[in-house]
Amino acid sequence: MIRHRLLTLPRLGLAVGCFATVTMVTTIVANPKAPTPPLNGGATYIGEAVCIACHQVQNNHFAHTVHANAFRLNPKNEKEKVSCESCHGPGSNHIKDPMSPGNRVSLVGFTKEWGTPVALQTQMCLQCHDGGQRMFWQGSTHATHDLSCSDCHNPMAKVSATGLLKKASINETCYTCHQQQRAEFAKRSHMPVNDGKMSCVDCHNPHGSTSKTLLKADSVNETCYSCHAEKRGPFLWEHAPVRDNCLSCHNAHGSNHDKLLTVARPFLCQQCHGNAQGHQAPLFNSSGILGGGGAANIRIMSHSCQNCHSQIHGSNHPAGARFQR
Ligand code: HEC
Ligand code: HEC
Ligand code: HEC
Ligand code: HEC
Ligand code: HEC
Ligand code: HEC
Ligand code: HEC
Ligand code: HEC
Ligand code: HEC
Ligand code: HEC
Repeated sequence: MIRHRLLTLPRLGLAVGCFATVTMVTTIVANPKAPTPPLNGGATYIGEAVCIACHQVQNNHFAHTVHANAFRLNPKNEKEKVSCESCHGPGSNHIKDPMSPGNRVSLVGFTKEWGTPVALQTQMCLQCHDGGQRMFWQGSTHATHDLSCSDCHNPMAKVSATGLLKKASINETCYTCHQQQRAEFAKRSHMPVNDGKMSCVDCHNPHGSTSKTLLKADSVNETCYSCHAEKRGPFLWEHAPVRDNCLSCHNAHGSNHDKLLTVARPFLCQQCHGNAQGHQAPLFNSSGILGGGGAANIRIMSHSCQNCHSQIHGSNHPAGARFQR
């Protein structure tokens, strides 16, 4: 392409041409995320009026989106002014032979069938949406699994109230791939996600984060404290596993046990407290077990161990060392 350019340049402009080529190269080095020119086989911008002539239907839907508003009513820079071509790249080569499958490199497409490499697709969006929430996009689980922005977003129509998503809601967008999580939130005890009180992005940043499993906060506990602040303490008497990780006892999404617990009580406690000499395990003697002959033992009724050890997340009572008050 560069050779082609130089050849067609009038002699007088040759020096300018070389200069332009050099600056182009330095820009690539300085900003690796900017789309690598030349785009679309060296095509030039032709303006949205030409696109709309053939893509009237797409334009009718697109016209209701934030991008259409921003680009048409109040473009902030040259990139925004080119409208359709800010995402799809310059279109002069596309219109030469739009139906030819061989001509697909002439335009950035965002559908699987079109075949534009995912890296180039995301670069087009990141020209304007780099940083912010997408600070950690590069290297995130979604990026390394080759997701494109368009796996969750559809900028061609206003399908969701906010966020230009592919589905009507955030949760539905995520469930298209995360079927197991759909099942977890349907369990008897669950975070009120499907009830519309919260969504996946209250805890996760789908664009990447510094912590494990795309959490918005630095750790599991920090995530939970953002809403359950009273569990942060400080407590005079701390229960070690609470401070360590809420997920020692709770599932993050849902569970078929009470209060999102990982295991039913008293077994939950007995995973760690099995002192056979104390009162923590004898529960299993003949009179202790339900249906074992004797009356039901208090340690397996109702809140089980918590009938006495009620302050399980920690206690501020001077005599609360055993979390009884
Ligand atoms: C002369 C008519 C014509 C013009 C003008 C035109 N297109 Fe197309 N475009 C087509 C046709 C026909 C197809 C379908 C090609 C196919 O399915 O193989 C197409 C396909 C596309 C696709 C599909 C990519 C995909 O993922 O399937 C996009 C995006 C697109 N055009 C954008 C544009 C843009 C942006 C412009 C303006 C710069 C434009 N078109 C101008 C006729 C045109
Ligand atoms: C903000 C970026 C962006 C802008 C601006 C944009 N598009 Fe798209 N376009 C996309 C994405 C992403 C897809 C893939 C949507 C999907 O996954 O279905 C797409 C898909 C398409 C398709 C093929 C799929 C379909 O819906 O038929 C056509 C044709 C198209 N765009 C044309 C246009 C035209 C014409 C304009 C200007 C009026 C335009 N686009 C503006 C991002 C954009
Ligand atoms: C030329 C710059 C530009 C490009 C390229 C671009 N956007 Fe945007 N985008 C904007 C602007 C401007 C807004 C309006 C934001 C605002 O008002 O602060 C916006 C808003 C959005 C929003 C927020 C919508 C809402 O309801 O708040 C999403 C999501 C989005 N863009 C996704 C994308 C995706 C995905 C792509 C690539 C397919 C893309 N954008 C490409 C400039 C761009
Ligand atoms: C795994 C799904 C997913 C992927 C992949 C994804 N997003 Fe998002 N994005 C979301 C969700 C969910 C929201 C929140 C929408 C809301 O609040 O309504 C969002 C919000 C946004 C917003 C608006 C809020 C803000 O941060 O300004 C922009 C812009 C955006 N995404 C751009 C992108 C770009 C660019 C890419 C590709 C690099 C991308 N997204 C990839 C799911 C995704
Ligand atoms: C197009 C498919 C797709 C969509 C849509 C999608 N994801 Fe993912 N997600 C993946 C893949 C692939 C992985 C990596 C493999 C895995 O863990 O299943 C992943 C992994 C994750 C992980 C685990 C990260 C880790 O490091 O273990 C979280 C959390 C996640 N996604 C949240 C979301 C949220 C929230 C949304 C909606 C905003 C969403 N995903 C939408 C495909 C998707
Ligand atoms: C209340 C906070 C919260 C909400 C809401 C939430 N998650 Fe999670 N998610 C977590 C925590 C905490 C983990 C586990 C992190 C760990 O083990 O390090 C997790 C783990 C994951 C994982 C990794 C696999 C696994 O199950 O451990 C995926 C995928 C995931 N979540 C998807 C989703 C999706 C999709 C939604 C919305 C439908 C969602 N999450 C809503 C907190 C939440
Ligand atoms: C975005 C806010 C938010 C975050 C973050 C959050 N929760 Fe919740 N949690 C709620 C709401 C709202 C409820 C439902 C309360 C109700 O219905 O009374 C709830 C309910 C619960 C319940 C069940 C309470 C009951 O009465 O059944 C448990 C247990 C719980 N959360 C633990 C956690 C854990 C563990 C984390 C961290 C992985 C976490 N929460 C993160 C908002 C949040
Ligand atoms: C040692 C096990 C254990 C750990 C660790 C634990 N919890 Fe709990 N949590 C429980 C039990 C048991 C219940 C049920 C209490 C009841 O029924 O009275 C509960 C109930 C809850 C409830 C609902 C009732 C209430 O007290 O508000 C919330 C919310 C909650 N836990 C949040 C958290 C958070 C946040 C963390 C991490 C900081 C955490 N839990 C760590 C055992 C634990
Ligand atoms: C993940 C392991 C774990 C689980 C589950 C767990 N604990 Fe603990 N618990 C500990 C640890 C560790 C300590 C601190 C022991 C120490 O300081 O010697 C502790 C301390 C205690 C103490 C104070 C003991 C003392 O010697 O001061 C009581 C009472 C207690 N736990 C009750 C419970 C009850 C009731 C449950 C179930 C709701 C439960 N624990 C679940 C690990 C656990
Ligand atoms: C009827 C009330 C009651 C019930 C039910 C109960 N505890 Fe206790 N627990 C106590 C008392 C009283 C102490 C001793 C307090 C002290 O010495 O200061 C204690 C002490 C403990 C201790 C500290 C070490 C020890 O053995 O002295 C642990 C750990 C403990 N209980 C765990 C459990 C577990 C696990 C369960 C359920 C299987 C349970 N408790 C059920 C009353 C109860």
